[in-house]
Amino acid sequence: MTLKISVIGTGYLGATHATCMSNLGFEVIGVDVDPAKIESLSGGTIPFYEPRLQELLQTELKSGRLSFSTDFNSISDCDVHFICVGTPQVADGLAADLTYVFSALEAIAPVIKDGSLVVGKSTVPVGTAARLRAKLLEVNPNTDLAWNPEFLREGFAVEDTLNPNRLVVGVTSSKSEEILREVYARNLAAQIPWVVADLPTSELVKVAANAFLATKISFINAMAEICEAAGGDVTVLAKAIGYDPRIGSRFLQAGIGFGGGCLPKDIRAFMARAEELGAEQALEFLREIDSINLRARSRMIDLVRRDLSEDLRGKKIAVLGAAFKPDSDDVRDSPALDIAVQIQAAGAIVSVHDPKAIPNARARFPALNFAESIEACVTDAQLVLHLTEWKVYREIDPLKLIGLVKSPIIIDGRNALDRDLWRSAGWNFRALGRSEN
Ligand code: UGA
Repeated sequence: MTLKISVIGTGYLGATHATCMSNLGFEVIGVDVDPAKIESLSGGTIPFYEPRLQELLQTELKSGRLSFSTDFNSISDCDVHFICVGTPQVADGLAADLTYVFSALEAIAPVIKDGSLVVGKSTVPVGTAARLRAKLLEVNPNTDLAWNPEFLREGFAVEDTLNPNRLVVGVTSSKSEEILREVYARNLAAQIPWVVADLPTSELVKVAANAFLATKISFINAMAEICEAAGGDVTVLAKAIGYDPRIGSRFLQAGIGFGGGCLPKDIRAFMARAEELGAEQALEFLREIDSINLRARSRMIDLVRRDLSEDLRGKKIAVLGAAFKPDSDDVRDSPALDIAVQIQAAGAIVSVHDPKAIPNARARFPALNFAESIEACVTDAQLVLHLTEWKVYREIDPLKLIGLVKSPIIIDGRNALDRDLWRSAGWNFRALGRSEN
């Protein structure tokens, strides 16, 4: 008989996971305490932007396998329960806020049936899974809890969920592993690597992976600082070192650094947890990774100041990009938006464009000016900043734009535009980490 699956928490991760599990052929119910989210998903609309997901959600709703509810009792006959709630940074420190994870467990523990398996997917500090498992077994000793970290990237959420590059399961019994093998049978048949670990290791795999990615980005941004000081070009440097397969060329895009709802908060929570464990020295370097990352934003603002005789007051600046990365409307800890807000606070007249993230950006920073088109954004600008590398920006014809601006100066904060093309169209082109700034 096919497994019946529940997904607790229908935010980014949960909505994607529920939809993809249904696509794999399971009967799935997504549960959330937020009635607005449930209403939207039940009606076939995802409350955020993610390529492919909306269409897939509609197909799965039509199939009759997928449904959503605010009622926790609706999951009582499910065999597997995925916990997909958020673990944001606490307001007054670096640690992760585990309120939602524990309240999700408390809500489901009394209603789930004997023999069922709870599977955590949220990113948590190491040791959380064991605590959750102990709590679960106190309420229902005939259940079990496993951990199965999620590695999906925003913008590729459907692809990463249906065809992950690895599956990691933290289990305490072979029975739990068997259940998870059944859930992921299609991936296993496709030879996707299957890593079985204990609970703490499975939790650590996730934060270690994000810490490594953050380190790679900050490493290349540190090299960008050196290139600027020494008259080098970080894009050529990145290309050259990337040919070494031990280094690899991905995640070596220098610029204004990493943001989003994961990398920044995950490295901070990792440091906080290491300190609790008395192992803070091991992660001391992550403090530097965080500083290099935030410094990339200040270096961008320094470049802006240099171009505008140090005084930003009354200067018209166009900002292309508000999302923390392309193909997403997520503005959480977005370097682009942070820079826009800082230059506006310094007195500049800022106009921001983004293909998808304006509603979220406006909700967060209503005092910023937003433009509905690239053309409207750059009209009369004394400086244009390229801060999120959307495809539409890479496809801009610089010749067409030059007639609209007051002075044709562009700073590429993502090292993604074609410098020669912009220069030959008459623009004064600068970028982070490249000589001739
Ligand atoms: C990240 C991880 O890549 C996923 O594997 C993980 O599952 C996810 O966090 C999570 O923990 O949920 P995501 O936040 O979607 O995924 O974004 P990334 O693609 O990792 O990009 C993060 C930031 O790094 C973006 O602001 C991006 O612009 C920046 N970045 C990325 C660079 O500045 N340079 C690069 O070379 C690559």
